[in-house]
Amino acid sequence: MGVHQPVAGGAVTIRDLSKSFTLNRASLPVLQGLNLGIRPGESLAVVGPSGCGKTTLLRILAGLERPDRGEVLIDGRPVHGVGTERAIIFQEPRLLPWLTVLGNVAFGLEARGIPRAKAQLQARHYIRLVGLTEFEDAYPTQLSGGMAQRVGIARALTVQPEILLLDEPLGALDAMTRITMQDELARIWREQQVTMILVTHDLEEAIFLADRVLVMPREKGTVPRLIDIDLPRPRDRSESRFVAMRRRLMAEFGLH
Ligand SMILES: Nc1ncnc2c1ncn2[C@@H]1O[C@H](COP(=O)(O)OP(=O)(O)OP(=O)(O)O)[C@@H](O)[C@H]1O
Ligand SMILES: [Mg+2]
Repeated sequence: MGVHQPVAGGAVTIRDLSKSFTLNRASLPVLQGLNLGIRPGESLAVVGPSGCGKTTLLRILAGLERPDRGEVLIDGRPVHGVGTERAIIFQEPRLLPWLTVLGNVAFGLEARGIPRAKAQLQARHYIRLVGLTEFEDAYPTQLSGGMAQRVGIARALTVQPEILLLDEPLGALDAMTRITMQDELARIWREQQVTMILVTHDLEEAIFLADRVLVMPREKGTVPRLIDIDLPRPRDRSESRFVAMRRRLMAEFGLH
């Protein structure tokens, strides 16, 4: 029934991407000539100070926002608007309150014309993957924040995207739930072989999950830096190389 089919695509090419907004009649440059290639199945974290353009970049990749200049290619094809090979997960899960967990996760498939029984079968697979089988008949108000966020992740995965775009998906969670969810995301990423682009404020989260970290600069016009996280997986947050990597990333922001 095709829920386990391996994902072949998911390469992202960002070419000379620029975007400005108008603020008080002045032009505010947010992205300036960004170039980046992301391999199929790669995990890229995007970090940087508030307002540096992380969400803007993710919205352009999702096709929700148009760049002023440059382009995004998915497997060589230019992005024009949203597409079924990409799924975005926002900071708040944005569930439909009148649908159960199962209804919410199956919703995207049903909206694409897949018959309910088949949509629910596929949805149940991903509900199991995020560990919520016992809660498939619960409504969003009956869930904790971490559970709701897991429903959001299951909903995004159910449509089998090649590329998963995550904007601070764990930002609203307490520290302990957050660590559990990072473990979950690492496992899901490995099992589903999706390309993952994760915006986060949390440097440890970036090191834990990413193959490379894109460090967006505070100063406009400064070139973003890419840092390889060449640590073996599964990663250990207390291991000396992990700690050294965190120190290095903090130094990128002038923190010690
Ligand atoms: N629709 C918009 N209209 C005008 N300005 C905008 C718009 N969207 C974003 N901006 C501006 O673009 C800049 C980058 O915003 P963006 O949301 O991408 O930042 P961010 O890196 O995601 O920040 P945060 O970490 O706080 O979420 C900000 O200065 C913001 O004010
Ligand atoms: Mg943001």
